[in-house]
Amino acid sequence: MAKKLRYALIGCGGCGVGKHLTAYAMYPDDVELYGVCDIDAKKAQAAATRFDVPHVFTDYTALLADPKIDVVSVATPNCLHAPIAIAALQAGKHVHVEKPIAMSTAEAEAMVAARDRAGKLLMVALNNRFTESSRFAKRYIDEGHLGEIYHARCGWRRRQGYAMRGTWFADKEQSGGGPVIDLGVHFLDLTLFFLGYPAPVTVVGSCYDQLVHLKNGKKPVETSILGGNAKKGAYSVEDLAAGFVKLATGTSVAFEFSWASHIEKETTYLELLGTRGGLSMHDGVLKIYAESGGQPIDILPGVKNTSGWGENETRHFIDCIRTGKAPLSPPEDGVKMMQIIDAIYASSESGREVVVRETATV
Ligand SMILES: NC(=O)c1ccc[n+]([C@@H]2O[C@H](COP(=O)([O-])OP(=O)(O)OC[C@H]3O[C@@H](n4cnc5c(N)ncnc54)[C@H](O)[C@@H]3O)[C@@H](O)[C@H]2O)c1
Repeated sequence: MAKKLRYALIGCGGCGVGKHLTAYAMYPDDVELYGVCDIDAKKAQAAATRFDVPHVFTDYTALLADPKIDVVSVATPNCLHAPIAIAALQAGKHVHVEKPIAMSTAEAEAMVAARDRAGKLLMVALNNRFTESSRFAKRYIDEGHLGEIYHARCGWRRRQGYAMRGTWFADKEQSGGGPVIDLGVHFLDLTLFFLGYPAPVTVVGSCYDQLVHLKNGKKPVETSILGGNAKKGAYSVEDLAAGFVKLATGTSVAFEFSWASHIEKETTYLELLGTRGGLSMHDGVLKIYAESGGQPIDILPGVKNTSGWGENETRHFIDCIRTGKAPLSPPEDGVKMMQIIDAIYASSESGREVVVRETATV
């Protein structure tokens, strides 16, 4: 039997413990839970105690200096993804980094370069690609059943979901932005994944802060939509964004993401329109729209909608390390995603379309 992979988690918050540590603990034949790290010693110790992890660190550089560790998850605030992932690759570890891959295109490109120099694997934790529905949808699309996909739309809109003030999520310096970089990366990524990840060509984005009033210095609107957070002071990220991306294939993608908005309820959606059929995922439910017998027909694939948070994704990464195969969610896709995210914010600032690249050919 192959040697177990020695695993360590950096960032013992909700995602690090609830997703990564929980998922790696599901594969004891392949993985030895070796270390945990958090600048908050209590959180690190709590995670270690809960999962019976022997080595506890409060400094990630000390963890990375331990040559026994083979693979690390990075589940820290977004601003630390690139520095920690690059340091981990330089230290010879395989890296499973949370979404968003980084804070900018430049950081994501530096991560790809570090991965190449190290000869280790770097996978971005995009769990929505790994659900049973997404796996089926990707196969169905790749088999050509939808024909040429010419337009897509996606969104994740929350009625009450703005980050608490004082958390890194609400601080642009640490998060890189609000719902665009937090929720948008999930559904823009899934849409581009289904489309085969064509390069972005142009982006128009509008980011709004009407509910938190960032730019004009007014106090936040006294509204229950901010869940009481309004009273606690200012925020530095948007509350809603919408826009339009044109891809190198000519396919367009319309999007909307919000942490707070006057809508009926939180909703997620993804729709693809092709010449031979369409596909939708509304709140995780997959449906296909086709034609048969001269009539439009709806197809409800018999697939489960969930995979367990991170379970399939983690199993896949372990298999990639074992076999040397390339991860399904590589950092190269993360570079294109960060080009779009950077362009959404730049377009919103300038009020103009941003050209990411000059050509519309793949
Ligand atoms: N894939 C998903 O669906 C999903 C869901 C939630 C969060 N996330 C991502 O996971 C990451 C963490 O989010 P979260 O909700 O767990 O946040 P969190 O605030 O709960 O956890 C972050 C942890 O990182 C620790 N930390 C900060 N600086 C550190 C450092 N220098 N060294 C070690 N630890 C440090 C903090 O003390 C905290 O415990 C984010 O990038 C977020 O986007 C992904």
